[in-house]
Amino acid sequence: MSEKTPVVRGLRDIYPGESERFDMVEQSMIEIIRKYGYQEIRLPMLEAIDLFSRGLGEATDAVEKEMYTLEDRDHDVLALRPEGTASCVRAVIDRNMTREGKPRLWYAGPMFRYERPQKGRYRQFYQIGAEAFGLEGPDVDAELIFMGHDMWKMLGLESAVELEMNTIGSGDSRRAYSEALVKYLNPRKKELDVDSERRLTTNPMRILDSKNSSTQKLLESAPDLHDFIDSASRTHFEGVCEYLDREGINFRVNPRLVRGLDYYTDTVFEWVTDKLGSQGTICAGGRYDGLVERLGGPSVPAAGFAAGLDRVVLLHETLGMNADESAADVYVIVMESRHEAYARRLAQFMRTETSLRIRQHLGGGKVGVQMRQADRSGARWAVIVGDDEVAENRVALKWLREETEQESLDFEQLATCLNRAVESH
Ligand code: HAM
Repeated sequence: MSEKTPVVRGLRDIYPGESERFDMVEQSMIEIIRKYGYQEIRLPMLEAIDLFSRGLGEATDAVEKEMYTLEDRDHDVLALRPEGTASCVRAVIDRNMTREGKPRLWYAGPMFRYERPQKGRYRQFYQIGAEAFGLEGPDVDAELIFMGHDMWKMLGLESAVELEMNTIGSGDSRRAYSEALVKYLNPRKKELDVDSERRLTTNPMRILDSKNSSTQKLLESAPDLHDFIDSASRTHFEGVCEYLDREGINFRVNPRLVRGLDYYTDTVFEWVTDKLGSQGTICAGGRYDGLVERLGGPSVPAAGFAAGLDRVVLLHETLGMNADESAADVYVIVMESRHEAYARRLAQFMRTETSLRIRQHLGGGKVGVQMRQADRSGARWAVIVGDDEVAENRVALKWLREETEQESLDFEQLATCLNRAVESH
């Protein structure tokens, strides 16, 4: 026997039985984004590496430690995208989309980060993101949060997620704060964890994010970021909070929330849950007013978010929410191989006349075997084709999950019966 090739560490297959939930959750989230009038943009998975180093920041984990890079045959160095915002901004600049309008866009797809794999953290994971360009008011920050709120509500996750928010101010405020933080921590750097000590020179504000308890203790008497925020940023943040209050959306201001990517300005937010252990952030985003210009475009404000689909699905499952894992709704059983053409015509008829998924039995076999497969497919009905049915141009309909007598119906009656059952379900 040949050796098996295992799936690459940190990557995974999403099998039937799980993929249905994945699809259902993804489609629900996309439906919400569409309802807000955002348009889809399909972005490539590979980009020139410098898009990410310039866009996300050289000193971020995503760029410094987690990027999948490759050199192609022309010796161009490319990276698998670790996130979607930088690509989306690049695409907006390429088409000069902000000259005539204020595009609001969404994307969905796999992202890649070489992180330490664990539950809820994968090296290939899926995001659904939304990005709005050209809008500077707090109304768009609020709209992005409303969208998340609608998603959790639609999926029944509302009671398990909380919104955390912060404002990290303008670039100038952050520079002033970083200096003050370094000045405070430098003489105490022996007490910092290794990562935080390194960040003291590369990305001091990320130290606020440290999970290390002695670092957190040290931070208790550190300068407060909010003292460095200018009045324009304060007013903006208050504006966002007012919108949320007005809609009755609860949130907690977390002054330690700084986010791991460098492009943020002013509002940042995360939707978190305590049901998934340490990987509890299911969606995150904020404003990034300087990024379009930094990547070679005009000076245009922007804001967005990305939800981690894998984690939303995990939460949906953890909370015991239903997902239809069936392969089909109707299973067509063919008693004799000579009835195959009739069965195919019948299956095709149901596919056009109903919204149901029809799986026709293939490969022959006894009725008992076919029935077992029908059951295993999760179908609600079996439609049986035998000699009598073909002779009379009828079918036998059997409800597989309910106690009812098998019925003999013509095609029209079958369609009516199935459609009625779907409507009343
Ligand atoms: P991010 O916080 O890096 O932000 O990722 C957004 C979400 O993606 C996270 O909250 C998490 O749910 C999910 N995620 C991240 N890494 C992993 C992983 N290794 N495994 C599973 N899920 C993961 C961004 O990516 C920004 N581009 C969001 C944004 C859009 N900001 C403005 N616009």
